[in-house]
Amino acid sequence: MRPDRPIDGLMAELQALAQISEAEPPVVTRVVFSEADRRARAYVKGLCAAAGLTVQEDPAGNTFARWQGTDPTLAPIGTGSHIDAIPNAGSYDGVVGVLGGLEAIRVLRQMGFAPRRSIELVIFTAEEPTRFGIGCLGSRMMAGVLSPEKAQALRDKEDRTLDELRAQAGFAGPLESVALPPGRFHKFIELHIEQGPELEREGIDLGLVTHIAAPASVKILIEGEGGHAGGKLMPGRKDALAAAAELILALESAAKSTGAIDTVGTVGVCEVFPGAVNSIPSRVRLETDIRDIDRQRRDGVIRSLFDACQEIALRRSIDFKADVVNSDPPAQCDEETLAVMEKAAAEAGKSSQRLVSRAYHDSLFVARIAPVAMLFIPCRGGVSHRPDEYASPGWIGSGVNVLARTLAVLAS
Ligand code: GLV
Ligand code: MN
Ligand code: MN
Repeated sequence: MRPDRPIDGLMAELQALAQISEAEPPVVTRVVFSEADRRARAYVKGLCAAAGLTVQEDPAGNTFARWQGTDPTLAPIGTGSHIDAIPNAGSYDGVVGVLGGLEAIRVLRQMGFAPRRSIELVIFTAEEPTRFGIGCLGSRMMAGVLSPEKAQALRDKEDRTLDELRAQAGFAGPLESVALPPGRFHKFIELHIEQGPELEREGIDLGLVTHIAAPASVKILIEGEGGHAGGKLMPGRKDALAAAAELILALESAAKSTGAIDTVGTVGVCEVFPGAVNSIPSRVRLETDIRDIDRQRRDGVIRSLFDACQEIALRRSIDFKADVVNSDPPAQCDEETLAVMEKAAAEAGKSSQRLVSRAYHDSLFVARIAPVAMLFIPCRGGVSHRPDEYASPGWIGSGVNVLARTLAVLAS
């Protein structure tokens, strides 16, 4: 088998998809259910249909494009990722797994391969947490980890509900039907850029993911007392932003002090009210992101964060309200698929290395209902979630080649 045809067509599709953005290209911003997200979905569905796949969508907008196998009674092999993008993102995160997965299917079809198991490309809704503050919305619901009731309670910044937004995007039907039973996929493989520097630095073509780190997010509302920035003197102030600053540093210190390089803590959102230069901040809203490959250690950092909230609240006479949005366990990848990918890489003449995924992915949740594996390709400088994110055609081609070989083995 030699699924290593030129990928000019795929590169053109990646570029075309990158033009569908809420921001001026090359900046990609594609928040779930935005106009850009809807156009991007239509573009990708069109490509799937043109490739001869049967396209179906669930009520949350998760999209399934199926190549029917010769034995439709068998559970399919799944592959895919997401096409939504955080604000100010690049062109490869998620998209490589969707369009690269489609390309792997097209290569196999062109070679005349007839899969025994169906191969299904999945495009997950809202892997990114931008709109609703929670990552992997589609795959989380698919795995039954987020109940329809909790999903209905989600609101975006404009106070719009999931129901309102999905209806506007053309998705109807009961959210109860989004959850899939274990066994729905025989195996699931996600192709993705590494979003870290290891592969490029070591000159390795492919990363074979053994574990996906455990992500958590805590939202914190800090309420102090506002007032005139000139008239109100320093003693007795209850400045919510000054309290937030202490908390941000407390999180940084808690993450650093575990002694493990794998612990990370970030405050990526800080909203200040009223946000006027001559007004003492009365209210601050923080969103934190805490991860580790070791769940206990990650939970220790969350406890330190809560302790810091209490201590700062007492000392400054300020109110803190902290809510855990999610605290997910890590996932372990399927050894059998890892072995197939390792062999496929060797047969394709590509070097590979086992590694952990520090970013989360839809596979973290698919792992609850199916054995999963992830195939990483390098990205320049390890840069991701930025407009200068880049993966070369050579790297993408290697990923597609090895993904196609792996799908062929698993679907036979
Ligand atoms: C995924 O986008 C992540 O933040 O890991
Ligand atoms: Mn991302
Ligand atoms: Mn991603």
